[in-house]
Amino acid sequence: MTVTNRIAVNPLFLQCMDQNSKYEKDRKFCKHGWEHLMDVARIAYILNLERGYGLDRDQVYAAALLHDCGRYLELEQEIPHEKAGARLAKQILRECDCPEDWVGQITQAILEHRQGRATSELGDLLFEADKRSRPCFRCEAELDCNWSQAQKNTKIKY
Ligand SMILES: [Fe+2]
Ligand SMILES: [Fe+2]
Repeated sequence: MTVTNRIAVNPLFLQCMDQNSKYEKDRKFCKHGWEHLMDVARIAYILNLERGYGLDRDQVYAAALLHDCGRYLELEQEIPHEKAGARLAKQILRECDCPEDWVGQITQAILEHRQGRATSELGDLLFEADKRSRPCFRCEAELDCNWSQAQKNTKIKY
């Protein structure tokens, strides 16, 4: 079984998903549930092909599935979710028998997924796909969103 599919049934990961959805139940802005994670996975893989990075699909998808797993800790304890997520992701990846070099690369990419100064191709993919995944063109909260006009996805690209 792929690392991605082991993550998808990992109890700690599923617990994070439950917590995230509980904390975002009434949120009108972008949420961080399955739909977002799969959008990020697929866009990141498209970018991986377009840019010729040649990264393994399982690694790209594993990073995408885990990148927001610490989101609830930001809402609950004000811990930045890239930091909380990297810590949780390391544990989940080890429980999923992920190769140790991937554990390091994925947790580093998660740490960098919000800042746009990625130190790796995987971090670059995660940052870009995360931003490009949001359908601002059909969002009811767009006028109240704090993204700049330049950041918003007003046209369909991916
Ligand atoms: Fe995030
Ligand atoms: Fe995200």
